[in-house]
Parts: sequence; C-alpha cells; structure tokens
Amino acid sequence: MSASYPLMRIPVVQAPPMVEEHLSGAEREALKERIKALMRAQDAVLLAHYYTSADLQDLAEETGGCVSDSLEMARFGHAHAARTIVVAGVRFMGETAKILNPEKRVLMIDAAAECSLDLNCPAESFIPFCDAHPDRTVVVYSNTSAAVKARADWVVTSGIAAKIVRHLHERGEKILWAPDRHLGRYVQRVSGADMLLWEGSCVVHEAFRADALKDLMARHPEAAVLVHPESPEAVIELADVVGSTTQLIDAVRTLPNRSFIVATDNGIFHKMRATAPGKLILEAPTVGEGATCTSCAHCPWMAMNGLRKLAQVLEGGAGEVRIDEAVRVKAVRSITRMLDFAAAERRRAA
Ligand code: 13P
Ligand code: SF4
Repeated sequence: MSASYPLMRIPVVQAPPMVEEHLSGAEREALKERIKALMRAQDAVLLAHYYTSADLQDLAEETGGCVSDSLEMARFGHAHAARTIVVAGVRFMGETAKILNPEKRVLMIDAAAECSLDLNCPAESFIPFCDAHPDRTVVVYSNTSAAVKARADWVVTSGIAAKIVRHLHERGEKILWAPDRHLGRYVQRVSGADMLLWEGSCVVHEAFRADALKDLMARHPEAAVLVHPESPEAVIELADVVGSTTQLIDAVRTLPNRSFIVATDNGIFHKMRATAPGKLILEAPTVGEGATCTSCAHCPWMAMNGLRKLAQVLEGGAGEVRIDEAVRVKAVRSITRMLDFAAAERRRAA
C-alpha cells in the first residue's frame, strides 16, 4: 500500500560536530541565578525538550516551564501567559511556538540548531511533490519548517501520528507523508492507510542497529525494549513499546520491569532516571555490523543548547524567531487541527 518518493530529491545532511557544554558546579549555579533574574524581568517561560541537557531540563522545571515532547511543548507554550517563550530545542520547535503565538516574543537558545528531518525536506522540493499528488491528504511530522507546515493539511507529532492517520484512513483519505520514512512506514503498518512516503530520516535514530540490539537483549533478557518510531524498521520490530518521548518515559514509570533498553536520544535518560529511580536504563547500541554512528545516540543540534547561550540570548535578544505572516497563517491551521484532535482525544480518554 505504501510507495516511496525517489531518493535523489532528498538532500544529504551533514550533522555538525558534537559540542556539549561543560560547567563547574559554581559556574552552573551562578548562571542559573543570572538566567532566573533575566527570565523574571522579561516575563519569560522556558520550554525544554527531553533531549536537551540536564541543566536546561532542571532549570525549565525550577522556573515553572516545561520539559516535554514536541507536542506538549507546543501545547504548553500556547496555553502559558508569559510574554516571552524561550525554546531549548531545535528550530522547528521555536517556529511552532511562534506560529501558535504570533503576539509573543519567541527566542531560540541557538538559532542554528536544526533537525536532519527538517533539512531533508526543503519546501522548494516538497511543494511541487504535493502539487503532483492532489488526491492525497498531506500529513507532515512536526519536524519540518514553517513553509512545509503551511503546505500541509495536518501536522502530527510522533505521539499522535498513528491516531490521526488512522482517523483519516477511516474517512477514506489517502495520505502523502513527510519527512521521516521510518515513522511513515511504522504509521502505515499500524493504521493500514495508503501512504506515499517522503524518504527523510533522523541521523540519530537511523544509527540504531538491530543486530547489536539483539546481542544486548540476550545479555539483559529481563529488560523491556523501548523504541522511538524514527528508528529503522528492524529495530522497531524488536520493541516492547514504540512511542514518542513522553510515551517511552511513561513506559519506564509504569512497566514492572527493573531494566530498559532505550532506542532514542540519551538526553531522555535524565527524565527517565528521575521518574523511576532505581531502574536500570541502558542505551540501545549504535555500533555493530553496518554502523554509521556519527552522533552516538545524541542529537548534535540539541547539544547546541546550553546555559551560557541562554544567558546571552536573554541579555542580547538574539535568536528571536520570525515567520512570514502569510506562511504563519497557513501553518497555524494544520497545527491547530492536531492540537484540537489531541484535546478531543484527551476528553474521550477522561
Ligand atoms: P517527540 O515528538 O517524541 O518529542 O520527538 C521529537 C524528536 O525530534 C525526536 O527525535
Ligand atoms: Fe531531528 Fe533527530 Fe535531532 Fe530529533 S533527534 S531533533 S529528529 S535530528
């Protein structure tokens, strides 16, 4: 039922070198105090993704912000009253916050923090692709630019993608999906929908290796295997739980297992360990036969976020996200559809 778009239209993405922030205890405390004062003065709230540093995640929680997956970051930022939103994450997260909150100032800690999926799907190639398939409903993953969202009928995150596509399939709609091919194939399989797939991938998740994972599973037979659906199909097939970052954290909290093998960015381990102290969290392997590990289970763009840069951004006002209003007005429709669908799901579940 699924078909793929020719690979040659997909740009090759070079991940930047991994540069992580290292702070002494005294530096960390001084920076946090400085940032807290600046945030109070600027009426700012911090939204941090689970893949950012433990320092940023802790600061977001200490200051009344949120640490979450990309769906909840969008929802929380939209609902919050602060006049400034600071995004610790990657560009599409900052853009989503701005699309939903045009009246607010939205700052990125590092405006150069990209996402390989977003880079894999330039609007100049994607828009003609959609135009060539007018019979299909265009569903794009949130890891895309504002211009790509503006061309879409629906935006989805990994937490809700399968539910939305199943809903569209039940209405008889055929899907054009972008950009992540692994997530697309997974959604196709669980929803049964007719999906035409863009062939993008995430440099971090694509590096997980099924053979090496099987070896690790054999050494830890009691461990539950948790996999983010941006991982290759052979890795997903080994999973006990496939889900968004929040769904994987919930699995660590609720499953009876004492140990877990996790195939997603290891930044998430901070929250998993805090949520379930005493449980053993093991990193799924990115080595072994055919390994291409360039990031070793950590997103190099997420690693561009740090406390030093956050202080500089608040002091200097750099990193402000700006989006063309015509693009924003179109993009907000496809994001709002997802948020409304998610709210209806929550009401149904309550
Ligand atoms: P979530 O939507 O699960 O937070 O994932 C975002 C992401 O970039 C995963 O690599
Ligand atoms: Fe993008 Fe992958 Fe980084 Fe997530 S982990 S932000 S999908 S490059």
